[in-house]
Amino acid sequence: MTTARTFPESFVWGSATAAYQIEGGAQEGGRGPSIWDTYSHTPGLVKGGDTGDVADDHYHRWEEDIEHIKNLGLDAYRFSISWPRVQPGGRGDFNPEGIAFYKNLVAGLLAAGIKPVVTLYHWDLPQELEDEGGWTNRETALLFAEYARKMAQELGSDIDTWTTLNEPWCSAYLGYGSGVHAPGRTEPLAALQAVHHLNLAHGLAGRAIREVLGDSAKLSVTLNLHVTRMEDPSDAGDQDALRRIDGLANRVFLEPLLKGTYPADVLEDTKEVTDWSFVLEGDTELINIPLDMLGVNYYSTGMVRGPREGEEADGASDNDGHGNSSHSPWIGSEHVKWLPLPGPYTAMGWNIDPSGMTELLLSLKENYPDQPLMITENGAAFADEVVDGRIHDVRRVSYLHDHIAAVLDAYEQGVDVRGYFAWSLLDNFEWAWGYERRFGIIRVDYETLERTWKDSAFWYRTLATTNTLPS
Ligand code: NOJ
Repeated sequence: MTTARTFPESFVWGSATAAYQIEGGAQEGGRGPSIWDTYSHTPGLVKGGDTGDVADDHYHRWEEDIEHIKNLGLDAYRFSISWPRVQPGGRGDFNPEGIAFYKNLVAGLLAAGIKPVVTLYHWDLPQELEDEGGWTNRETALLFAEYARKMAQELGSDIDTWTTLNEPWCSAYLGYGSGVHAPGRTEPLAALQAVHHLNLAHGLAGRAIREVLGDSAKLSVTLNLHVTRMEDPSDAGDQDALRRIDGLANRVFLEPLLKGTYPADVLEDTKEVTDWSFVLEGDTELINIPLDMLGVNYYSTGMVRGPREGEEADGASDNDGHGNSSHSPWIGSEHVKWLPLPGPYTAMGWNIDPSGMTELLLSLKENYPDQPLMITENGAAFADEVVDGRIHDVRRVSYLHDHIAAVLDAYEQGVDVRGYFAWSLLDNFEWAWGYERRFGIIRVDYETLERTWKDSAFWYRTLATTNTLPS
């Protein structure tokens, strides 16, 4: 017999969004262009030619959106600040109108009793910085720290948690390696330079925030860690393939961030691409700053094996970052073969596997035992249907249920996981997939911009307000 299960009183329930995916107002309020404006306006790169010009029009509807978060009974809201909205060129003058937008948003959240959880970089780099090399240029990391300092001065202690970066794996590998995200570059060296400069940006920004706000500032970074299985766990080639993916996707971020070193095997695996001389003396110490919270985004799992005799290697593929043949295959691709997973799948084609969530949390506890964790994203896209004004998104409810149960499994096994943020509050601009893929628990009608609660929103409200997961 299964029964309802309860979360601890202090468990944080939230929902997440990102600036470019929801705000719109792309040419308003003094905002400068970002790499995603450029990318989405380049014909053929985003499905349906969609752009973030209007998106969910959150720029004008933020008060209504706060009402939704409040009515959902959530404790916290995770959103990102658009760097080019507050500092249009990424350096020099800040834009008071842009800063005022976020001050108003934060004030509105606090007035509604909702904790603001801020992400400083959710992929919308000011275009002017990309014109100077973007994340391949060390200076971008230094400028990011100045932007972070200014935000700490302006928003100060009103922010509950400061997250420096969202999924630097995507920024580096999809942006500069496979090119399926902005800025659309396809250079292995650039991708690895970006990895390091993003790590450095985190360390410098975290230090700047602490300088302004002291130790009271809660600091965090969000990673999309890969949970990868082997076709044949006893095969040495499969084990090597797994080690390589774990190195390039997970440890190349986790180790410098949490331990202050780059993994020796990753440096070895990538030596034909670079000698990593862009890592300067003292960098790894700067990157390694104590984190109050490690943010974990989890959606899906992947499966690999080593090469089999007489077989063609994988080439670069449709990298989307969360499953199937979607992981950094352009470096060391001759050693790694991605395999299809059994399903069921979401509308993204991602394998649904809640056990990966528990596994990931347990492995983080084992490797970084004192690190508090937060699920900063989890959710699913499905082709929703509106029937008589209602959206009976049963598959999303069951996805959320099973993954939240998997978080509780980990918690009950001693993992220090403090909260869960559903991705996403609203249907929104799903990057290269445009508006076609809907992740929201609230539907957005892109003709009228009207918001409608899906069944998953009602379900999530019950969970958030009772702390009880139904069986
Ligand atoms: C991770 C990203 O942070 C978010 O922007 C994206 O929409 C979701 N995953 C779904 O792909």
